[in-house]
Amino acid sequence: MTTEDYKKKIETALEAYFKLPEGLPQAGLAEAMRYSLLAGGKRIRPMLVLEFCRISGGDIEAAMPVACAVEMLHTYSLIHDDLPCMDNDELRRGKPTNHIVYGECTATLAGDALQAEAFGTILRCALPPERKAACAEILAGAVGLDGMCAGQYLDMLWEGRSLTEQELTEINSRKTGALLAAACQMGVAAAGGSRQMLDCAGHFGAALGMAFQIRDDMLDVMSTAEELGKPIGSDKDENKNTYMVLMGLEGCRKTVEQLTDFSKKLLNEAFTDTAFLCALADALSVREN
Ligand code: IPE
Ligand code: IPE
Ligand code: MG
Ligand code: MG
Ligand code: MG
Repeated sequence: MTTEDYKKKIETALEAYFKLPEGLPQAGLAEAMRYSLLAGGKRIRPMLVLEFCRISGGDIEAAMPVACAVEMLHTYSLIHDDLPCMDNDELRRGKPTNHIVYGECTATLAGDALQAEAFGTILRCALPPERKAACAEILAGAVGLDGMCAGQYLDMLWEGRSLTEQELTEINSRKTGALLAAACQMGVAAAGGSRQMLDCAGHFGAALGMAFQIRDDMLDVMSTAEELGKPIGSDKDENKNTYMVLMGLEGCRKTVEQLTDFSKKLLNEAFTDTAFLCALADALSVREN
């Protein structure tokens, strides 16, 4: 399977969610949810779910709802991240942000509902109950008080003051690393993989996530809005602490390279069929959007 094959499958699966008949009074909320969900992201997190499921001996079709759930959760985090009270951005995935189109109240609720539907999608799927429970627990841990929300809180709390590398890592491992690591682990959990596989997937995802956020910070400075599908210079405008501020372009480049090599080596702790994930990690380390 190539990244394009995975992406196509994921797009088709996502397309089926939240289609409400026009007459229903909450159809507008479903429309706002679908607007951001189907706006065309890279689909990295669902891809990680499916590939980790595959290399753990599982059935990727059975894991597809889990993959879609991670993307729903991620999309919620993006809608809220763009709100005026957070990063105040007007472009996402090449389109006006959710609140620009539907207003702040609907955008907030679209995010809320996507989060709930993510858990519902896992819990309603046809996997064995203990695998569904494991996936839901991993996701909850990655998003809540120790995870993405904590990272977003610290990102806001520590705006405008200079941070140590340790503090910046504290933010980024939570706001970005946690969900990427969870995606990897949920793939293993959906396949009923071993404890060793779960740990290995978590370590890989954390290293990949760190490299991913550093590259994101680089692109916010170096790229263009057309290429990126989101505004550039947003971090500076919002007084954000980024790896670019901390270590400059060359430092970032080197660190991304080191983390990517490290992440690939980590895979050998528990897996042998790692060619796809190694190629994905390499591609993400030099991604342009
Ligand atoms: C953007 O995530 C937010 C970060 C965690 C840096 P992605 O770069 O995966 O965004 P999409 O899903 O492709 O739009
Ligand atoms: C946010 O990081 C990560 C999330 C939890 C959404 P950023 O604020 O850097 O993400 P972008 O650059 O807006 O995608
Ligand atoms: Mg942000
Ligand atoms: Mg942002
Ligand atoms: Mg960013």
